[in-house]
Amino acid sequence: MARVFNFSAGPSMLPETVLKKAGAEILDYRGSGQSVMEMSHRSKEYEEIIHGAEALLREIMGVPANYKVLFLQGGASSQFAMVPLNLFAKSKRADFIHTGTWSGKAISEAKRYGAVRVVASSEDKNFSYIPATDKGIFDAQADYAHITTNNTIEGTRFRTLPDTGTVPLVADMSSNILSQVYDINKFGLIYAGAQKNIGPAGLTVVIIRQDLLGHQQDCTPTMFNYKIQAENGSMYNTPPCYAIYIAKLVFEWVKELGGVAAMEAVNSKKAALLYDFLDNSKLFKSPVATDARSLMNIPFSAPSDDLNGAFVKEADKAGMVNLKGHRSVGGMRASIYNAMPLAGVQKLVAFMAEFEKKNLK
Ligand SMILES: Cc1ncc(COP(=O)(O)O)c(C=O)c1O
Repeated sequence: MARVFNFSAGPSMLPETVLKKAGAEILDYRGSGQSVMEMSHRSKEYEEIIHGAEALLREIMGVPANYKVLFLQGGASSQFAMVPLNLFAKSKRADFIHTGTWSGKAISEAKRYGAVRVVASSEDKNFSYIPATDKGIFDAQADYAHITTNNTIEGTRFRTLPDTGTVPLVADMSSNILSQVYDINKFGLIYAGAQKNIGPAGLTVVIIRQDLLGHQQDCTPTMFNYKIQAENGSMYNTPPCYAIYIAKLVFEWVKELGGVAAMEAVNSKKAALLYDFLDNSKLFKSPVATDARSLMNIPFSAPSDDLNGAFVKEADKAGMVNLKGHRSVGGMRASIYNAMPLAGVQKLVAFMAEFEKKNLK
């Protein structure tokens, strides 16, 4: 069976070595006589897995000792509620930078729990750029300020983080966690759905500065309370055991390849290949401002819906799947997360060149 290059925005490709290892261990995890899926989460074997996953994530992301790492469920969308429920502690005010569909959803949800202010937005140009901000625009009394570091649908990313002063910066890092080096000290809280650069969907990673724990609103459900999750080592209830195991294998893979800095170097090379082609193409164009280009999600389009449709269909036949763009942007989108090999991007660019030659009038 030939594997395809899957350009999906998520769930997306996982490293083949990870899948093979999981396959080899599926019936009998290291002599235990059981699959990880069947194991008690209180067993010695499983405790090693979850502790190992946390230790590896701390190591590859350089998470300082005054931060907790949590493995939760419910996807990034649950964090849209969990963050305000736990962080609206004093003023019950938060500032948001609105850069796309996902930040919009985070804003709507946060409004249910406190006062939300959009301090900058790129909505005027269909979120094709990242708005500039300076420290003065942020409310110094806000409980937090929120950004989406990479906008999966629109294909933009923050090149530099906003300076929010002493206000904790909260980041939805779902679509670029582990793809580039970040200084964790710059954040109060980071959250990410796993299904792009970490592992199976459902698992949600949260990295939270310890002083932000314990200020939840009274109505916060027990499962949504960061402090309770932290005190119980992410095992207040049965955690997503198998997803955490796959995440551990992915963290090992990142470490073996040289860590997040090495990932960033390969990701920059992959993205540059595609952007260079787009910059020189007479058929395809990118809707995104040059200084806001994402390393992970690259939207592009041909001049007509017919050509876009033909491109997606022919690429699929050639073993490059899920290239159709999101309906709000149109055209195509290539999501090239960590597990997309350089060969996948090379094949896509060669295919685009061929398509251009055939269709350019
Ligand atoms: C940036 C971003 N935030 C949030 C989400 C929602 O994630 P989930 O489906 O895990 O709730 C996504 C999903 O693609 C995303 O890309």
